[in-house]
This record gives sequence, C-alpha cells and structure tokens, in this order.
Amino acid sequence: MEKSADTMEKIVSLCKRRGFVFQGSEIYGGLKGTWDLGPLGVSLNNNIKREWWKMFVDNREDMYGLDAAILMNAKVWEASGHVAGFFDPLVEDVKTGERFRADHLLKDAGVDADGMSLEEIDAEISKNNLKSPKGNDLSPSRQFNMMFESRIGATAGPEGKVYLRPETAQGIFVNFKNVVDTMSPKIPFGIAQIGKAFRNEIAPREFLFRVREFEQMEIEYFVKESDWEAEYEKLRLDIVKWHEHLGLAAENIREYEVPENDLAHYSKRTIDFEYNYPGKGFDELAGFAYRTDHDLKNHMDASGQSMEYIEPDGSRFLPHVLEPSFGVGRAITAVLCEAYTEDEMNGEVRSFLKLPAHLAPYRVAVSPLLKNKPELVDKARTVFGLLKAEFGNVAYDENGNIGKRYRRQDEIGTPYCIVIDFETLGQEKPELADTVTVRNRDTGEQERVAIADLLAYLK
Ligand code: GAP
Repeated sequence: MEKSADTMEKIVSLCKRRGFVFQGSEIYGGLKGTWDLGPLGVSLNNNIKREWWKMFVDNREDMYGLDAAILMNAKVWEASGHVAGFFDPLVEDVKTGERFRADHLLKDAGVDADGMSLEEIDAEISKNNLKSPKGNDLSPSRQFNMMFESRIGATAGPEGKVYLRPETAQGIFVNFKNVVDTMSPKIPFGIAQIGKAFRNEIAPREFLFRVREFEQMEIEYFVKESDWEAEYEKLRLDIVKWHEHLGLAAENIREYEVPENDLAHYSKRTIDFEYNYPGKGFDELAGFAYRTDHDLKNHMDASGQSMEYIEPDGSRFLPHVLEPSFGVGRAITAVLCEAYTEDEMNGEVRSFLKLPAHLAPYRVAVSPLLKNKPELVDKARTVFGLLKAEFGNVAYDENGNIGKRYRRQDEIGTPYCIVIDFETLGQEKPELADTVTVRNRDTGEQERVAIADLLAYLK
C-alpha cells in the first residue's frame, strides 16, 4: 500500500487509541517534546531493546554491557566538548518571542543549512525573506546549547551545576578504564549501553522523532587506529542486519554519508542510516560515527587518568572509537510505519500492524468463543495459562464478539488468535476434541491445531 502523511496521522491515532503512546503530562495540557509509553508501547519498546541487546551483546564475545548514571560530573561535558559545541541555531519571532530552529525554517523553504555559519544562516533568511510562522520578523540567529542543566544537592555556585546527559556515550568513555581493568578485553571490543538521554530541542516535532527525553542504544567500539576502516565496514554490515531484524524493508533504508562540513564536533566520518518515514521521506534513524580518539584523549587530558590500552606485550596506545548509535523512539516509529497495513478482508477495509512476532506486544491472544459459557472459559483459561507460562506476552481477550476481537488484535499486531469453541470440548465432533482454531493475522486464515502441538506451532 502507498504510505503518506495521512498514514503517519493514522499511526499516531492508533498509538493513542490502543495504548502504545500517550502525550506526556496529558491531563495538564502536555509537556512539549515528551511522550509516555502505554502498556503496549512498553512491550514494543522492551522487545526492541531486548532484541538489540541479544544481537549486539549476548550473541557476541567482543561486547560488554554497562549502565552508567544519568547525572555525571559537569567536567565530563566540558571535556567531551558538549559545553562548548553542542548547539543548534535558534531564531526568535521578534514580536511573540517564540523560538524556532533556523536550519529547520530554512529547510522548509528549500534551503539546506547543514554546516552553515550563523552569518550564512542570517544571510539566507534575509535573502529568502523568511518570517516566523505568524508572519513576523525573525531575530538574528544565535547558538543554543541543547543540554538541560540542573543543580545537585544544596551546593550553590558553579560546582553544583550538572547536566542531564545528552548522549549515553560519555558514561561509556568515563568507564573505559574500569571495564578494561575488570574484564581484560582483547582489542577490538565494544561497550554497550541502553539508557535515557535528554536534549533541550528548540523545536521538538513529529511524534517520537524529535523529543526532549528519549532512549538510546549505543556502542563504543574500541579499535587500533590502523584497523578503524576494516572494523567500520564490519559494524556497518551488523547495523544493516539489525534493521533487517526489525523487519524494515531494504528499500526503506538509505545510508547517508554525512558531508565533512556537517560532521559532529567529535566525528571524522559518519553514516546516518535513514528511514523513509511516510509523508516525510528519508530522515535519520541511527548514526554510525568514527569518533577517532577524541573522547578518550580529552578525558585523559582533563582527568589526568591514563586511558591507554596495554597489550599483553606491554605496548600502550590510545584506542580509536567506532560508534553505532540508535534511538529507541525512532526505531519504534520506523517499525510502526513499516508494519502499518491496510487491506480488505470480508468486504471491509482493515488496518493492522504486520509486526514481526519477536517485536509484537502480544505473541498470541486466547479467547473463548463465548464468554458466558463457563466450560469454554475454563478451557480458554487453561490454554492461556499454558501459553503464558511459555511466552509471557500472551493476551486473554473475551471483550466483544469474535470479529471485534480479531480486529482489535490485528490492529495491535498480534500474530495469532486462538479460539476455544465447542469443538475443542469435543461436543460437536469428537475427533476435534482438544484442538483449537488458530487464526493468522496477515492472511485471516484459520487452522485447527491440537492443544498439545500449540507451543511448537507458535515457536
Ligand atoms: N552518541 C552519538 C549521538 O548521540 P546523535 O546522532 O546525536 O549521536 C544518535 O544521536 C541517535 O539518537 C539518532 O540517530 C537518533 O536515533 C537518536 N536521537 C537523537 N536526538 C534525538 C531526539 N531529539 N529525539 C529522538 N531521538 C533522538
């Protein structure tokens, strides 16, 4: 099916209606740039993180996990370059004071502002006679630091200043020595972390795409400088495999080589993995940067602690770093966009999520044909208990009639629905006793499967 901006609106509405994603602080009018995950959103989110951890950490011998504190000493962010260089260009509506990202306003006007200086941005704004969305003049652009500041304890003055981390990566760099000393990894090796990051985005927008609080799944992969290109290629292929595992079609993924003048302050090479979001087109899903020895070197200089790796023969060097970095919210968005499908079933338009079974919030739903027949309910509860013990994420659904249940489960992406009927009880055809109907979400086809074979069938 053709997907468009309209599709994105339908997905956002489905997410709210079915309990995937709610607006943050909704009952107080919301808080811009924040979203809360509902029961099904948590499942999808956890499934994505679990699969990522399995693929990048548990299934490999060269990866080590970490879970660092969100609050870090402010010196970390001075050394990393974020205090001095983590900016977006901001302009204000001179009448209302509303703030906008200058590069986004220019992009909407067809001008690519990537890598432009503030002077160049101002010149383009003036050349294109750009106004604020309310039609007012714009202030000259200025750099706006995206880190959230807070204060720790009761300390007044600059010593009490802390930042909420804008990337999980620095928690890994400052623990590099701890991991090396405790785990004795052989180079090349990676340290992986999943956790929250915070950015005071000037213009949060497009659902989960650009928010102020989000989760990242990051790896810092430590290599010898001479090996960085070969290792970069290997990891690039692993990222391709990851996106396949999310069920994203190859034609909807594009690798964008970030031009030199638009590289982050720490990067010598970056590929953005872009997804073809409906109605928006290709935009960043994940980033893959070669950070050189920028971070370890800066932390070594600033802290006075050696960050060198020592080989068994006693030789020492500062490793270089490759960094695959994934946003969980963007992965959720891409997965939902890919899975959202409309077709016609039994003469009616049906919308459903064609989620891969390993990502679906529920692997299977179990129903009694009628909820007012205790013998059907008892049997359905028994089958439900059997499957729940094995898979965990199993739904018991007896609301509405069977047709409504199928539509609901289709819409949330449950791959199979199992119905316990009178045949299961052996009342109509004894040969069908202890068999159930299993309905396939994608085809709507139904099969009779023996309860004894269900686990194998669903696996
Ligand atoms: N440590 C490197 C780093 O943070 P980044 O390109 O700024 O690099 C990595 O961010 C990923 O984090 C992005 O590809 C995206 O998936 C996600 N991300 C970044 N900013 C985001 C935001 N404001 N909202 C949602 N996801 C974001």
